[in-house]
Amino acid sequence: MDIFSKRRHFLSNQLETNSVAVLFGSEETLRNGDVNFPFRQNSNFSYLTNFPESESIAVLDNENFIIFCKEKNKLKEQWDGEILGPENAKLYGATQGIPIDEYEKVLPSLVKDRDNIYCFESFIPKLKKLLPNYEAIIKPLDFEVSKMRAIKSQEELQIIEEACRISSLAHMRAMKSVKPGMYEYQLEAEYVHEFMSQGARACAYPSIVGGGKNACVLHYNENKDILNDGDLVLVDAGCEFKNYASDITRTFPVNGKFTKEQRDIYEIVLEASKKSIETVISGSNPLKAHETSIEIISQGLLDLGLLDGELNEIIESNRYFDFYMHRVGHYMGLDVHDVGGKDINGNWLDYAPGMITTIEPGIYINENLNVPDEYKNIGIRIEDNVVVTETGFKILTDLVPKEVNDIESLMNS
Ligand code: GLY
Ligand code: MN
Ligand code: MN
Repeated sequence: MDIFSKRRHFLSNQLETNSVAVLFGSEETLRNGDVNFPFRQNSNFSYLTNFPESESIAVLDNENFIIFCKEKNKLKEQWDGEILGPENAKLYGATQGIPIDEYEKVLPSLVKDRDNIYCFESFIPKLKKLLPNYEAIIKPLDFEVSKMRAIKSQEELQIIEEACRISSLAHMRAMKSVKPGMYEYQLEAEYVHEFMSQGARACAYPSIVGGGKNACVLHYNENKDILNDGDLVLVDAGCEFKNYASDITRTFPVNGKFTKEQRDIYEIVLEASKKSIETVISGSNPLKAHETSIEIISQGLLDLGLLDGELNEIIESNRYFDFYMHRVGHYMGLDVHDVGGKDINGNWLDYAPGMITTIEPGIYINENLNVPDEYKNIGIRIEDNVVVTETGFKILTDLVPKEVNDIESLMNS
């Protein structure tokens, strides 16, 4: 049985008796005029079916796996490339393939007399519109599938490791290429070049390339300014490989050498990174990782005199928040901010083998903060991807250096 059949089998066994699941794929999205954005299949649909085309619906129960999809069409295929067609749905394990144009007629008969219809929450309005007179209970599938997606299989781990390897190479390429006077988007091009050259056709999210004060804007992605001598550049960029994300941030000096103040802040973030990663072990949890990062960053800022007072008070009153205003990590998988890891009430679950999280502490010194001028406009984040193992953790992104000396050596080699 292939991995997708195993997932469907596992899921359909969780459903209540006399139920059926209806799954929707992504649709094409118009970018402008008659041009679409590059198509990306819905993550849950992909996880359960591996079916790659737009305009697809799957219907699943213990015995059936039906795929509705586009029909083959010689003229359309001449313009836009091959369409699989219902006759090829069996290649994806389907018990039956049906033309998508027939779903309005056929779907009601497939769900007739069922007690429950399961569907991912964001598609429930669409399902209700398709089945206006239907009286079964509609139940969300999200929690069950999120639990499955939270724990990565060996096959998934191999793909994510490759995504992380490619993204690490891209960061190394960028460290060697950056020069004062380049535009941020020119540095971004080094990432795209490496991703594609290595077989990753897309970015997992819009790359953030922020020089100087732009690094203090958490989701800056205009990437339009010149990189100046003496500034740091923060790059948060990761490729998507076979639909799986990687998510790496490195911060490095545009001219290849950290200033004293940049190094002061960098070393705090680096320590927070290392100590937080150590908490990514079975039985610990994301709250512990986050608290660890807050403690180290607050203590570091106190030691430098950028915060005053007493450690516990700084933490309890959230005064560190002016410098560090995001969480230390998130789960990662088919989505860069992946599902899973919380119980049905929204509480964090303990880390367990096979979970993958980012660890990404940062310090962002906005120019309005009351600190000496030399520290203003420094923004630093260090982000790694870490998998929980049976015996501890494994960092998937340690090919790309993060020690000051190692970064400087690579940049000047
Ligand atoms: N790249 C988005 C994030 O780090 O969460
Ligand atoms: Mn990131
Ligand atoms: Mn991240």
